This record gives sequence, structure tokens and C-alpha cells, in this order.
Amino acid sequence: MMRRGERRSAGQARPGVRQAVLVALSAMTVTMMLAACDAGGAGDAGAVASASAQGGANAAAGASAIAAPRHAGASVSAAPEAASAVRIAGHDAGQSRAQVYESVRQMTALGKQLFFDASLSGSGKLACASCHSPEHGFAPANALSVQLGGSDMHRTGLRAAPTLKYLQAVPAFAEHYHESDDEGDESVDAGPTGGLTWDGRVDRGGEQARIPLLSSFEMGSTPAKVTAAVKAAPYADAFRAAFGEHIFDNDDAAFKAVLQALETFEQTPEVFYPYTSKYDAYLAGKARLTPAELRGLQLFNDEQKGNCASCHISQRTRDGAPPQFSDFGLIAIGVPRNRALPVNRDPRFYDLGACGPERTDLKGRDEFCGLFRTPTVRNVALKKSFFHNGIYHSLEQAVRFYAERDTNPAKFYPVSKGKVQKFDDLPQRYWGNLNTDAPFDRKPGDKPVLDEAEIKDVVAFLKTLTDGYQAPGALVHVATTGAAAN
Ligand code: HEC
Ligand code: HEC
Repeated sequence: MMRRGERRSAGQARPGVRQAVLVALSAMTVTMMLAACDAGGAGDAGAVASASAQGGANAAAGASAIAAPRHAGASVSAAPEAASAVRIAGHDAGQSRAQVYESVRQMTALGKQLFFDASLSGSGKLACASCHSPEHGFAPANALSVQLGGSDMHRTGLRAAPTLKYLQAVPAFAEHYHESDDEGDESVDAGPTGGLTWDGRVDRGGEQARIPLLSSFEMGSTPAKVTAAVKAAPYADAFRAAFGEHIFDNDDAAFKAVLQALETFEQTPEVFYPYTSKYDAYLAGKARLTPAELRGLQLFNDEQKGNCASCHISQRTRDGAPPQFSDFGLIAIGVPRNRALPVNRDPRFYDLGACGPERTDLKGRDEFCGLFRTPTVRNVALKKSFFHNGIYHSLEQAVRFYAERDTNPAKFYPVSKGKVQKFDDLPQRYWGNLNTDAPFDRKPGDKPVLDEAEIKDVVAFLKTLTDGYQAPGALVHVATTGAAAN
């Protein structure tokens, strides 16, 4: 299988995922878009409809297609919010632009309330926000490898809860991903890419939200329970206003509406993809990196050193959109088995990512075993557990794994009778799926690609990717962007 690093210089943006529109949006609230759209004229309605007609891909992927030069000028109407509003409302033809935006506003407000509402869960104790804390980039606030849930709040799943930020850029899952012609070589197969969750098994936020709501080890609810909870919630009237007077008459329709509201909330630009990190300010020429951060950036990009940027894209796209710090590829990097997880007490159990067990459509397709979607490393410093099984609890450990996995494997894998049990969470018959690009091209005894001081520098750089940076003393700048966002 062709792997990404082989055919692209480090740090160059993974094109198919263009975000020009999102840049425009990031400084814009729904209010502003409303104003822009009302002035925009009827021609844009077609663009909105075509964004929704993209299907499959999540809203942002649809939006990025519209951002292509041939659609120049349609960028405002390509707002992911608009696209989802059209889908949600289901009767696009009859709605004026103002109505579309009003319905997005309602949906976003409802989605936010739902996101924080523990009454949707079977136990009454677990909200989306319990595992996805806004103060932690929508990753968990605690350092558990996997979160607790289920009816007694003692059950655990198999995976670490990821950040929910910057998911707007994740393309729909494709077994063979091809870059668009104007951004790269369309004939090159970039391999399996995209989709939500660690194994890419769903494409839309709404489908995704169904998983934790119904999972016996997460929120453990049912459509009927969710509907009853919303009907009894303080926001029940607002829910009726958004979805119709009779929405609670049918559990399935009400449940679907809940999923749609959550999906819409997750597409709020200023909350979920604000691009306000120090690194964004640096790219815009508005902040300076410290010497350690700069060294870390260089090590992150250098193909002979970290080579991190070959998967965690660090440069703007050709059309100037900010980097997502992921190419969304599904990749096997041989993360060690996390023996602290209850599921792993069974020695026959393996979480094989894309080939199962959570994902079922690629079951039996050996070439997908051990593959997990490359996460963004934006806001990664707010996380307390790293990799799909949450095995590491500091960024130093996570980066050290890359630097020394092959040169000092005994640091990461168990040693039995003097022999290192390398790749102990992936049966040997799938080892051919493991990535072998730098930094995974070494052998025991070689010099690690990064020494301890360099690992620290890379971590210093990763810390520049946390949103909410305010330039020291740059009050004028803050005031300006504040005004633009209101
Ligand atoms: C018990 C903890 C828990 C709760 C509660 C929870 N999640 Fe998650 N969330 C996870 C885990 C674990 C994953 C990764 C699942 C996987 O890969 O199979 C995840 C993945 C996601 C993803 C995909 C992220 C990505 O990188 O693709 C989204 C979106 C999401 N959750 C939204 C929600 C919403 C919305 C709710 C509430 C309806 C919710 N979650 C409730 C733990 C939780
Ligand atoms: C070949 C592609 C590839 C390269 C190169 C790569 N990564 Fe990753 N990265 C991934 C994948 C895939 C995962 C998720 C793997 C898993 O959990 O099984 C990941 C996960 C991570 C995580 C954990 C994020 C989280 O939310 O848990 C960090 C931190 C990280 N990478 C940093 C780096 C750094 C630093 C480098 C360079 C030293 C690097 N990566 C190089 C693909 C890559």
C-alpha cells in the first residue's frame, strides 16, 4: 500500500481537504453570515443546495469543494452551517436565506444544550461534555485512558476519547483517496483516509452521535429515553419551535432531530475551528516562536528527523488555508497494547481499528487491520491520554515513542525471556500493514531520530497549537479580531 510520506514533501498540505472557506468563516459568526447572505442574492441558494448534495462527506468537505476556484464568489453560501441547515430543514426550496440561518442558529443553540445534558443518558449522569470537555479541546478533563460510562458508570470502552475540534475538515471515508487535480497528483492513491472516530466508520456528526448515545458502555440510552428527556427539558419548547409542534410524537423523528442538532453545534466555527493558536498567529506574522518552539517546528517538519508533518500537516494549503495537522490517513503505527484496559484482560482480544471489531464493514479485509485515523495534533497539549488506546499520559512519552520505537523497543513493549514483544497489540500476520517511513525506518542500536532535548523541543512546538493564544501586549490586535468576530 502506498504511504503518504513517500510522495509528498514534509509539511505540504494534503490537498483534497481545502479549507479556504473555513478560513473566511473562522472570523465570522452566524450573525455576520446572515447579514452577508441576505445581501447575497438568490444565486447562492444553488451553491448551498449543491453543498448539501455532496452527500457522504461531512459538511465541511462539501464546503471545500465549493471553495475551489471555479466557484469563486460562492464562498459565503458554502458555509457548512448553511449546508447542514438545508439538509436539516429538508425543504430547502421553500426557505428564504434568513430562514435558513435562523434555523441554523436555533439548531446550534439546541445542540449546545443537548451536548451538556446528562439526562439524555441511561444513567442520567453522562453528557457528551463529560467525555468531551470544552476546556480540554473537547477531549476528556481527566487522565483515564478510557472513560467510564454505562448504566452504573463503571463500564469502559476500548478507546480514548478524542478531541472534537477541527473535525470539519475530515473528509468522508474512502478506501482509496485521491487528491484533487489542482492540488496534487490525482492519479496517486493515498490509501484509506477520512471518516469520523478512530477507525473512520461514520462520515457525519449526526451518525456519530448515535454511537455514544446508544452504546451500552457510554451513554446507554435509547431513542425513546432521549425523546422523553428532551420533552422534559427546559429547552423542550425551543426544540418544538425548531423541529415542529409534533416532533415529540415520534421517537425516531425526535431522536434524528437530536442528532442533527448535535451535528450542527459541532460545526460552530468559533467554538470548534477557531484557528486561534500561537502557531496560527505565527503563520499570520503576528507572533514569534521561541527558539525552542522554532527548533521543535523544524524537527517536526524535517524528513530526516521527526517527519511528523508528513502525516500531521503543518503548512498552509496552496490556497492559503491554515493547516489541519492531519492528513486524515488511516495508518498503523504499532501503538503498544494498553494492559490497563479491562477489554485487554482477554489475551485473544485485539482492537484492530479499521478491520474491527467496532467497525464491521471492513471485517476480514486484512490490509485494514491495525489502522487508525491520524488525529489532528491541534490542541493536543490539552489532552491527558494519547493514542487510540490512551496508553501514554504525557506528550514527552508520545513523542519518545516515535523517536525510539525501533531503536529501543524494550522501552515500549514487554520483554519476555529476554526478547522484546514488539507490536504486541497487532497479530504478526498484519505487520505488513505497519508504516515504515521515517521515523519508523530504524533498527535497534541506531541513533534515535530525536534525542531527549529534541523531544522537549517538539513538545514545546506542539504546545503552540493550543487555541486561545493572546499575543502578550497586543491589545490592539485582540480588539480588532474581537470586533471582526462580533
Ligand atoms: C463515555 C465517553 C463518551 C461520551 C459520553 C461521548 N463520547 Fe464521543 N467519543 C468517545 C470515544 C471513546 C470516541 C472514539 C470512539 C471510537 O473511535 O470508536 C468518541 C468519538 C467521538 C467523535 C468522533 C471524533 C473523531 O475524531 O472522529 C465525535 C464527533 C463525538 N465523539 C461526539 C460525541 C457526542 C456528540 C456525544 C454525545 C451525544 C459524545 N461524543 C459522547 C467518548 C465519548
Ligand atoms: C505515518 C504517519 C504519522 C507520522 C509520520 C506521525 N504520526 Fe503522529 N499519529 C499518526 C497516527 C495514525 C496516530 C494515531 C495512532 C493510534 O492511536 O494508533 C498519531 C497520533 C499522534 C499523537 C497522539 C494524538 C492523540 O490525540 O492521542 C501525537 C501526539 C502525535 N501523533 C504526534 C506526532 C509527532 C510528534 C510525530 C513526529 C515525531 C508524529 N506524530 C508522526 C500518524 C503519524
